[in-house]
Amino acid sequence: GAPVEADISKLAPGEMMTVEWRGKPVWIIRRTKEMLDGLKKLDAKLADPKSNKPMQPEYAKNEYRSIKPEYLVAVGICTHLGCSPSEKFNPATAVEPDWQGGFLCPCHGSTFDLAGRVYTGKPAPDNLEIPPHKYLSDAKIVIG
Ligand code: FES
Repeated sequence: GAPVEADISKLAPGEMMTVEWRGKPVWIIRRTKEMLDGLKKLDAKLADPKSNKPMQPEYAKNEYRSIKPEYLVAVGICTHLGCSPSEKFNPATAVEPDWQGGFLCPCHGSTFDLAGRVYTGKPAPDNLEIPPHKYLSDAKIVIG
C-alpha cells in the first residue's frame, strides 16, 4: 500500500484523528502534559511497559512510544482478535483502577494506556502496533 499523509495542524491538545493506511485505522493523538505525566505512573500495571517486544520501529522504543512525546501514532486495532478499541480519554470514565485515560476494547475487555500499552492480565498479548512513520514538517506526518 502507498504511504499516506496526515495534516496534524488542526489537531488540538487532547484530541485524536484517524487516517486510513493499508485498510487499517491509524490513530494520531495529541497528548497533553497531563496525559504524558500519567503514562509515567503505569509501568507496574502494564504487560510490556518498555515495549521490549520486536514489533515496532526503533524510534518508538521509549516511554512515550513515539518520535515526539506529544504525538502518538498507533494502529487502532486490538492485538487480540482485531476489534477496534474505543477512546476513554477521560480519567473520570475509569475502566481500570487509577485510570489515566486510554482505550478499551469492546470485544473482550483489553485496556490500553495513552501510549497504546496493554494492561496486564488482558487477552491482548501485545501493545498496539506503531506503524512506520516520519515527520515531513511540524504539521505533516507520512505513514508507511
Ligand atoms: Fe480486543 Fe479481544 S479483540 S480484547
